[in-house]
Amino acid sequence: MEFEFILVDPEVEKFVALVQLNRPKELNALNRQLMTELRDAFQLLDANEHVRVIVLTGNEKAFAAGADIKEMADASSIEMVNRDQFAIWDQIKKTKKPVIAAVSGFALGGGCELMMHCDLIVASETAKIGQPEIKIGVMPGAGGTQRLTRSIGKALAMEMILTGRFITAQEALNAGLINRVVPVELYLQETINWAKEIAALSPVALKFAKEAVLEAFNSSLDEGLLFERKNFYLLFSSEDQKEGMNAFIEKRKAEFKGK
Ligand code: CAA
Repeated sequence: MEFEFILVDPEVEKFVALVQLNRPKELNALNRQLMTELRDAFQLLDANEHVRVIVLTGNEKAFAAGADIKEMADASSIEMVNRDQFAIWDQIKKTKKPVIAAVSGFALGGGCELMMHCDLIVASETAKIGQPEIKIGVMPGAGGTQRLTRSIGKALAMEMILTGRFITAQEALNAGLINRVVPVELYLQETINWAKEIAALSPVALKFAKEAVLEAFNSSLDEGLLFERKNFYLLFSSEDQKEGMNAFIEKRKAEFKGK
């Protein structure tokens, strides 16, 4: 897979793909071409049966410093509506396989929002996470006001969005925004190792479970419970369910096939 602003390794480990944002001079600012490439890569990897988990990373200095300000600075509202740059994000959101973010350095604005599109988040101790759009006269536009608030609650979300303050990885961990904090030399390898562990589980069960967790954001408790129950029952027509339960009973390691 050849792209200009991202690097893709479809098999960094067995069943694990690595996608790296690659505009280092611009701190991985998310211009529209980069986001389009990311959408295309995710769609290809989602359809690739040799991939079970996707790791998304930037570099040590920046996961991503936000949407590309230079690309938007002179746009009118109507131009922004016609561009509808966030429609691409809606497609990224539809990725069915688990996506794990490996974050170091700046994860700001759209960078923080992209991080929050991921299902699990590992951060290096140097991560600086924020929604600083207020400082440039705008506000989050790729889901920040909603995802951040649902994830960490009103008090800290308001503080970050109204003041633009960056939080540290440790603060983000304490607030429940991310899963793990690791030393900077290890953040990528630890994420890949975690992805490898998850990739050994049933891909069908992972897909249905991810879908059910995300449903919690869209529905009432009763609707969400119904959705969960349907996915749970549906898994009993998968070979992976039979293999997983029988392997448990026979005291052996399960071999999942994603069928
Ligand atoms: N868009 C475009 N270019 C960016 C950028 C962005 N979001 N962030 C950094 N860059 C560019 C800089 O312009 C600079 O380019 P030049 O060398 O050509 O001048 C290069 O990346 C390096 O940046 P700095 O020199 O500023 O690096 P620094 O270490 O001094 O500061 C920083 C780092 C604090 C992250 C600072 O770059 C910064 O504040 N960036 C903008 C952060 C921001 O406001 N993000 C939100 C964007 S709007 C958004 O994301 C909306 C949404 O909801 C989707």
